[in-house]
Amino acid sequence: MSIIVTGSIAWDFLMRFPGYFKDHFLPDHLDNISVSFLVDEKERHRGGCAPNIAYSLALLGDKPRLMGTAGHDFGDYRQWLESVGVDTSLTRIYADEFTATFTAITDRSHSQIASFHTGAMARSRELSFYDVPRSSIDWVIISPNDPVAMHKYARECRELGIKFVYDPSQQLARIGRSEFMDSVEGAAVLTVNDYELEMTKRLTGLSQQELLRHVAALVVTRGPDGVSAYTREAEYHVPAADAAALVEPTGVGDAFRAGLLAGLAHGAGWPTALRMGNVAAVYVIEKVGTQNHCYTLTDFVARYRANYGDDPALAVLGAGEIAPALSPI
Ligand SMILES: Nc1ncnc2c1ncn2[C@@H]1O[C@H](COP(=O)(O)OP(=O)(O)OP(=O)(O)O)[C@@H](O)[C@H]1O
Ligand SMILES: [Mg+2]
Repeated sequence: MSIIVTGSIAWDFLMRFPGYFKDHFLPDHLDNISVSFLVDEKERHRGGCAPNIAYSLALLGDKPRLMGTAGHDFGDYRQWLESVGVDTSLTRIYADEFTATFTAITDRSHSQIASFHTGAMARSRELSFYDVPRSSIDWVIISPNDPVAMHKYARECRELGIKFVYDPSQQLARIGRSEFMDSVEGAAVLTVNDYELEMTKRLTGLSQQELLRHVAALVVTRGPDGVSAYTREAEYHVPAADAAALVEPTGVGDAFRAGLLAGLAHGAGWPTALRMGNVAAVYVIEKVGTQNHCYTLTDFVARYRANYGDDPALAVLGAGEIAPALSPI
């Protein structure tokens, strides 16, 4: 099974300010702001939607191909992805660019000042599915990225008859109606969370039923309330899996998509694929960072069974075989 994951590739820098931002902004001088926060903690995490999804797909036993753009500072990130089973041969490096960087400073009240520098991500529109042998592609996921690239990839997948998941997530805010309609047309699956579903209806002026004239399936995640999927023939509602601890939710949506895609690509059927998404998601909530969780296929299957009972459809995963344990750095 060959899955190509497209989307942002980023480094996340997370810092903590041991005070309150509000004490440092002078209301009478807002037209001339000059502040510098002395931060006492800094962490660097591997991030970006595409590696997040690809990492969980690799844990699930796939060898996904990461199709995206990164900069000169991607070297050790790339090596690590390769070491955990992600194929980066379709990832293009631009030596004159930085990898996209998310930088966030959080204060004691959890207020946040953040920036996202696009860097090499802005060049992802230079990649094309016409440059990848068609016969080597079974599924594609188009996750948040440079909006021009997302539109281009969706159009190309449709033209080439490649099954694709359209996953606009936070980029919905940057996509216009005609661009959205042209991207979603013919998608195998549109994935959104419940808030994004409302945004989508507002953007398109279409009801949920009407959206299904353009996509074969609509998947709506509902946080701790689980997930629903709607096709033209049926609908499915699956409760969330139990999280052992709620540590940090960032990346939960990406991990869900990996589980869902692994299930669909292997032909597990809707209920199983949705449950796989839910189980893949809870691992992320239990750790800080979006690629710091780890499990073997055997762990995954045991956790699936503990939440949803036995399921013959899990056989598509090669359940029972013990996958090599991967150790994130
Ligand atoms: N508190 C939770 N407990 C268990 N499962 C959860 C919880 N929150 C999220 N999930 C799982 O993750 C899936 C996706 O969550 P959610 O709808 O919050 O995505 P999202 O808003 O796109 O997340 P993100 O912040 O990553 O963009 C849910 O369908 C569910 O399976
Ligand atoms: Mg999301």
